[in-house]
Amino acid sequence: MIRARIAGIGMYVPKNVVTNNDLTRVMDTSDEWIQERTGIKERRFATPFEDTTTTMGVEAARIAMQRAGVGTSEIDFIIFSTLSPDYYFPGCGVLAQRALGMTEIGALDIRNQCSGFIYGLSVADQFIKTGMYKNILLIASETHSYGLDFSTRGRNVSVIFGDGAGAVLLQPCTESSETSLNGPTKGSEPRGILSTHLHSDGSHAELLSMMNPGFHVGKFAPEKKPAKPDQPYGGLFITKDLVEKEDIYPYMDGQSVFKKAIVKFPEVILEALKTNNLHISDLNLLIPHQANLRISQMLQHQLKLRDDQVYNNIQKYGNTTAASIPIALCEAWENGKVKENDLICLAAFGSGFTWASALIRW
Ligand SMILES: CC(C)(COP(=O)(O)OP(=O)(O)OC[C@H]1O[C@@H](n2cnc3c(N)ncnc32)[C@H](O)[C@@H]1OP(=O)(O)O)[C@@H](O)C(=O)NCCC(=O)NCCS
Repeated sequence: MIRARIAGIGMYVPKNVVTNNDLTRVMDTSDEWIQERTGIKERRFATPFEDTTTTMGVEAARIAMQRAGVGTSEIDFIIFSTLSPDYYFPGCGVLAQRALGMTEIGALDIRNQCSGFIYGLSVADQFIKTGMYKNILLIASETHSYGLDFSTRGRNVSVIFGDGAGAVLLQPCTESSETSLNGPTKGSEPRGILSTHLHSDGSHAELLSMMNPGFHVGKFAPEKKPAKPDQPYGGLFITKDLVEKEDIYPYMDGQSVFKKAIVKFPEVILEALKTNNLHISDLNLLIPHQANLRISQMLQHQLKLRDDQVYNNIQKYGNTTAASIPIALCEAWENGKVKENDLICLAAFGSGFTWASALIRW
C-alpha cells in the first residue's frame, strides 16, 4: 500500500521579536495577564513592506525541499494554507509557484484557519495514495500582525497571534522500504501518514471570524451589515461606514472557543488512535495546534500524557494559526524530539469551527 510521508520539513519566522512588554506600549495589557491566560511570552512580527505570507512560506518551503533533496522542477503540486493571504485573490499558491520558479503545476489554496495544515496534509495524502502525484509541497504561513487591532479594544485577540511559516515536502513510501528524514529505516511498522480525520461545525462560524471586508452583506450577522452605498451597483465589499467604525478586525469569543476546543481536541486525537488500533500510551509525541498553552495543558491532563509526550512552543511564537503545527513539528524534529519510527499525532481546532488530526509513523 502506498502511504505519504514527510520527506522534508522547514520553518521560517520573521526576525522581529515582540515581547508582551512591547505590547503594553500600545494597549492596556500586561506581561502577567498574557502569560497567565495564554502562556505566551513573545511572538514574531513580520517586517512591513518586506515579509508577506508568501515570502515567509517560500523561505520555509526552500528548507523543506532542500532537506528532502528535491529540486523545484520535481514538485508536482503545491498546497498553500493560510487565513492571511497576500491578495484576496489569487491565493498564495500561485504566488509561491511563481516565486519558486516552478513549472505549470497545480496550486491549491486552503482556507481552514488553525486546521489548515492538517486539511492540507490530508489532501496531499489522498493525491499520493492514488498515485497522482509524487512530490507535493505543502506550505502554511500567516501574517497576522498586519491586520490586527492593536488598540485596547482588540487586546483579547491581538496578544495571542504571531507570524511565521512552516512547510513540508510529501512523497510516497511503501511500508517499511524507504529511508526516513532521519536516515535509513528499520523495523516493519507501516510508515508515513497512517490516517487523517477532518471535522467541522459551521453553526459557530462567527464566534472566531473576520467578516469584513467581505461579500456577506450582513446576511448572517445583521450587526455587521454595511450601510447601503449611494450607487446602484457594487460598493458593498469595503464600505466607508465599516472602515469608519473600524469594523474590519478579527472577532473572537474566547471563552466559547476555549470550551469547544477542550472537547474536540481529545475527541479527534482518540479517533485517530482508535482507527489505527493504537492507544495513548503508544504516542511518542502529540503536537497540538498552538492555540493557547492552557488548552494544551488541559489536553495533556485529560489524556494523561507525560510532559515529554507533548510539544509546545507557543511561548516563543504565539498562535501562528495554520503555520503553528509545521513550525512546532519542524522545531521538535530539529531538537531531536522526533525520531525514526516514532508515533506522532498532530491535532488542531479553530475558526469554523473546524478540527482535525493526523497520525504519523515517522
Ligand atoms: C482569549 C482568552 C485568553 C481570554 O481569556 P478570558 O479569561 O476568557 O478573558 P475574557 O475575554 O473573559 O476577559 C476577562 C477580562 O480580561 C480583559 N482582557 C482581555 N484581554 C486582555 C489583555 N490582553 N490584557 C489585559 N486584559 C485583558 C477583558 O477586558 C476582561 O476584563 P473585564 O473582566 O474587566 O471585562 C481566552 O478566552 C482564550 O484563550 N480562549 C481561547 C482562544 C483561542 O485559543 N483562540 C485561538 C483558537 S485557534
